[in-house]
Amino acid sequence: ETDLITLDPGFVNTGSCRSDITYIDGDAGILRYRGYPIEQLAKNSTFVETSYLLIYDELPNAKQLEDFTQQIQRHTMLHEDLKKFFDGFPVDAHPMPVLSSAVSALSTFYQRSLDPFDEPNVDLSTIRLLAKVPTIAAYAYKNSIGQPFLYPDNSLNLVENFLRMTFGLPAEPYEVDPEVAKALDMLFILHADHEQNCSTSTVRLVGSSQANLFASISAGINALFGPLHGGANAAVLTMLENIRDNHGNTDDFVAKVKNKEPGVRLMGFGHRVYKNYDPRAAIVRDTARGIIEKLGGGDELLDIAMKLEDYALNDEYFVERKLYPNVDFYTGLIYQAMGFPTEMFTVLFAIGRLPGWIAHWREMIEDPDTRIGRPRQVYTGPTERDFVPMEER
Ligand code: SDX
Repeated sequence: ETDLITLDPGFVNTGSCRSDITYIDGDAGILRYRGYPIEQLAKNSTFVETSYLLIYDELPNAKQLEDFTQQIQRHTMLHEDLKKFFDGFPVDAHPMPVLSSAVSALSTFYQRSLDPFDEPNVDLSTIRLLAKVPTIAAYAYKNSIGQPFLYPDNSLNLVENFLRMTFGLPAEPYEVDPEVAKALDMLFILHADHEQNCSTSTVRLVGSSQANLFASISAGINALFGPLHGGANAAVLTMLENIRDNHGNTDDFVAKVKNKEPGVRLMGFGHRVYKNYDPRAAIVRDTARGIIEKLGGGDELLDIAMKLEDYALNDEYFVERKLYPNVDFYTGLIYQAMGFPTEMFTVLFAIGRLPGWIAHWREMIEDPDTRIGRPRQVYTGPTERDFVPMEER
């Protein structure tokens, strides 16, 4: 890869790039946002504060954080015409394509004649996305269960507002559980960025054609939807439920994984970069039991997950392939305990990853060396040959 980068100073052909945003050491299991260790941010920061750090590359002072928070609060409502979009989706539509469609549609309301790259518009589009994506996500869920939308309540913070719009009902007051809000806020911090993963690279590649921020983020949401990427957190829960329904027989499941039965993978395990324990998974694992028990969730699937982890970490098949739990292995269990349906798990990943996508898009458009991405290929098709008339085929 170094040769490719050396050979390709503009990074235009390999898709690799320089970035100041996130540092990962996959062998040592290190993750830092703008130099700050993920463990410290998860413990001491908030999702809005970490979003500011990723996007504006420094932790905000009190005034900056207050201004940023207030700007976001002013934009949490959706245009009344945008809400009509939800009427067009089938009731059982998966919320991820609903989210990517609505985010793309935001550009029809907010990104028409103005230059998408001049500072005020980039800052305003940044705020609008951070503010409106949680609202769109909550409405996608409400639409799927036939319940009315709640307008945002800006006396609440971003995460509390999202929880209320997701689980609240117009007919009765909704009290946000501070433990749930705190746990979800921490999970969003853990998902906020991860350097050049599939969806972030998609955002950068689409943005390199000078597509606006809404269009680029919509592309990232679609990339995240894949079960090998953001869709894995939902796939983990299905995997654990299948093991539970097979009398909790982890040995039987692991045998299928090792035999590479079609479609059988240890979901939530493995990573292209981490060849050690994903530091985010370690944080989630250490907090999962407490949160799940507090919320009255079942330990059964968590026990199966921990048994599966112990098995894999001591089995040569996984050890020699350096397969460890990744961020998706335990998160689904917490989301389920919070009351989210499986279809919403990847949407939660998207809400968390949004500030990272925005930070990378802004870094890319602000880099004078950026040119349109054009990955190279090695051609392996047929050599030149003449056209064959139909009667000779
Ligand atoms: C995320 O890039 C990022 O940063 C992503 C992410 C982020 O924050 O953005 O961290 C979020 O996407 C985490 C990953 C979530 N996906 C899953 O949990 C799905 C299950 N994991 C695998 O599909 C896989 O590990 C990947 C996709 C995550 C990584 O794939 P790689 O790097 O291409 O690894 P590979 O497919 O080349 O596997 C190497 C070997 C193979 O065996 P051999 O062919 O050498 O015999 O390991 C095996 C694979 O079969 N393997 C697995 C496995 N993952 C890899 N075997 C069983 N179960 C698995 N989960």
